[in-house]
Parts: sequence; C-alpha cells; structure tokens
Amino acid sequence: MKPVWGGGLPVLGRLPEVARDPLGTFTAAAACGPVVDLGTTWDPVVGTSRVRLVTEPALVERLMLDIGRFDKDYRVLAPVMGEGLFTSAGSVWREQRRQLQPAFARAAHAGFAEAMRAATRARVATWERGGTVDLAAEMSALTLDIVLRALFGGEARELEHEVSEGLRGSVPLLDARIWLPSWPDRVPTPANLRLRRAVARLDGVVARIVAQRRDSEPRPDLLGLLLETHGDPDDPAQARAVRDQIVTFLLAGHETTASALTWTCWCLDQHPDTLARARDEARSATGDLPDDLPFLSACFQEGTRLYPPVWAFARTATGDTLLGDWDVARGDALFVSPWLLHRLQDQHPDPEAFAPDRFLRDASWHPFAYLPFGGGPRTCIGARFAALEGTIVLAHMLRHATPRFLGTPTVLPRLTLYPSGDTRVRWVG
Ligand code: HEM
Repeated sequence: MKPVWGGGLPVLGRLPEVARDPLGTFTAAAACGPVVDLGTTWDPVVGTSRVRLVTEPALVERLMLDIGRFDKDYRVLAPVMGEGLFTSAGSVWREQRRQLQPAFARAAHAGFAEAMRAATRARVATWERGGTVDLAAEMSALTLDIVLRALFGGEARELEHEVSEGLRGSVPLLDARIWLPSWPDRVPTPANLRLRRAVARLDGVVARIVAQRRDSEPRPDLLGLLLETHGDPDDPAQARAVRDQIVTFLLAGHETTASALTWTCWCLDQHPDTLARARDEARSATGDLPDDLPFLSACFQEGTRLYPPVWAFARTATGDTLLGDWDVARGDALFVSPWLLHRLQDQHPDPEAFAPDRFLRDASWHPFAYLPFGGGPRTCIGARFAALEGTIVLAHMLRHATPRFLGTPTVLPRLTLYPSGDTRVRWVG
C-alpha cells in the first residue's frame, strides 16, 4: 500500500506547514492514516528525501528495531555534531556505542549522582525565597553544569555563555534544514555564516575542555575514555573524533533534560495537589534517588510524556522495502513523534491530563507508545542518567523552595521542545 498523501502543495506537500507549526501539522496529518506522506525536500548533502510520518506503535516498533533496513541518516546535523554517537550510522555507530557504553554502566551512577547533587546544591543556593528567576535559563545552566561535571570532570562557569551562544547560533538553522531545502555550507549566505561562527564557538569550548584535562590528572569518565580511545591529539582524525563526541554529548545531554525539568515544573505548578504531594515526598524522604522518591520520579516521567523533549526523530530506509503493509522506498525519511504517540487516546487514557500515578501502576500501553528516549538499539544512551538527574534536581529544588510561574510558557518545537515565552518563576516556601 502507498503511504496516504497528507495534502498541501505539490511536491513540498505539508513540509512548509511543518516548518511553521510542526506539532499542529503532525497532529492534523496523523489523522490521515498510520503512514502519511508529508512531502519531498532536498538537502545538498542528503539529496532528495521523501518525508513520511509513522503514527502506529506496532509500526514504530518494527521501524525502530530493524536498524539494518531503517538506519539513521542525520547528516543534516553533521555541520555541528560531526560524526558522533547521535549522528553516526552503520558499523561506525556500532563501534562507537561499544566503546562509549562503559561510561554509562551502572557502576558510574554513584559518581553521576554525586555530580548532580553538587551542581544542584550550588545553583539552589543562589535562589532566594521571594525572588524570581527565569526557570528555563536556570535549568539550562544547571544541566550544562551537570554534564560538564559528570562526563567531562569540569564545571560550567566560564563555558556556560559560550555553549549557549554556540547553540543559539546553530540549533535554529539546523532545525530549518530538516524540513526545507537549504544552500550548501560553502555558500556564504547569512545563515551559513552564522552557523560557521556558532560552530567555531563550540570548537573553542571543546578545545578548552580537552586542554584542561590534559593539564590535570586522568579520570575514568567519558572524557577519559575518549582521550584513551583516541590517544593522539596531533592526529587530526583522532582530535576530530574527540571533538565530535564532546559536542554531541554537550548538545544531547543538556537541553533535553533542561526542557524535561522546566516542563515538569510547569505541570506541577498547574496541579497544586500533585505539587503538594511531590513536595511532601521530597521533604520527608532521606534519599534523593528514584527508588527513594517514586512519586517525584513518576512526575518527571509524566512531565516527559506530555512534553517529550525529543518530540520527533527519524529513520531512513536503506532500500526499497515494506513497513508492515506499507511501501517504503530507499531514502525515505520516516518520522516518529513521541508528542503524538504520548497522546494516543487508546494508549494513554485521558492523554492531556497530568496524572503521574499512571507510572506507579503496571504500564498498560504498547512499549512503543511511550518513547521519550527512543527505542531499539539506538535508544538514548543517557536515559538512566536523565532519570537520575530529573529526580535529584527536583528533590533538591523542592526541599529548598517551590517554583511558581508568573506567566505561561509556550512550546517551541525546535530540535528539542524548547520552553519559550514567559518562563519566570517566583520561589515560595
Ligand atoms: C530527558 C532527557 C533526554 C531525552 C528526552 C533524550 C532523548 C533521546 C532520544 C529520543 C534519542 C534517540 C534519537 C533517535 O533515535 O533518533 C536519544 C539518543 C541519544 N541521547 Fe538522549 N535524551 C535525553 C538525555 C540524554 C542525556 C542526559 C545524554 C547524555 C548524557 C543523552 C545522550 C544521547 C546520545 C549520545 C544519543 C544517541 C545514542 C545512539 O544513537 O547510540 N541523552 N536521546
């Protein structure tokens, strides 16, 4: 069967609409069928690609599990992330995952938790009761600090500004390239020049992280593993490999958790009884780990269901094939959207309700209907890290004070589900 045409312009289909309003257009297109044709785009590196949207959990499962037939093609992100774990494919990815997995093994969790506590305590100490802060900015700075401490053995301080400028300059441009045709990198359009400056900033951050480590004691963290694996800094290919992974983990491990934390706080703010229950649990428990705080941990899972930071991801068909009964051609980009899957009425009763208790019961949904961290072999390597971080940060925050929003944040779906608009909070008792 042919994917159902989702409507819109000839050739480009609904892609211009997706670029303007991705969540609304995805939601409308999903009503057309389980596999919807959203249109065709062109990228100087990837070439022509037909964009499909897959909305049924059973089809999503087949898509995500079979990485031989449906691999990643994220070359559009390569100008920033290079060929790191997020963007690599095939045997290069398999080898990278094998090398890096030990840095996220259970044995590393105690060290992660310690770094998360230290970073959160330092930031919490700057929040005064009665004072106001921009919560999205605070969460972004905090999660960056956590990644730097836990994976690279440093602290955010002077790197914070450079990383956020580097991201501000690159993410919107990469995002636009996903949906609409773009110019090759070598053409000096204003957008490409901005991207080059942003990448240079991120390269500067990487150089400082590596130089700091070379001047200090070796450590068995992710950076230690990278420098051990790619030992020769004078070999450009090895230096490049280290650079690509550092940028990858800075990006993948930072705005994602910041988004999840901000949105979870927003959900709690909108549900005072749930907020009171979460705060009571945080204040009466002695520990700060997910096992010590089941309800708070469920709040983070539920916040991440309603506001999945990675609201869409994609696989590309490596040959002409079938997905279930649906025809797929070589090069087709098949999009999956946790935003849609997490709102399926038959999978998550009363899907728009913030109801953390659903995570305290046995899961009644299809395993591929709750996918904040993706699924199959390419599941997020930092999923456990993020769950730990969500609980620890929320616990220490709520022990100190309660954030109450002064306005209403709005959802800005870029590479992550960015909290935009008014994200200021006042700290109350
Ligand atoms: C709430 C927080 C997070 C969310 C929602 C999230 C989500 C995701 C998703 C959906 C994917 C799969 C994308 C795809 O299949 O195309 C992914 C992959 C990845 N994530 Fe996360 N992530 C989070 C936190 C983190 C953290 C904390 C780190 C690192 C410390 C991290 C590092 C990565 C990396 C490196 C990959 C690529 C893995 C591979 O392909 O082998 N993420 N993440």
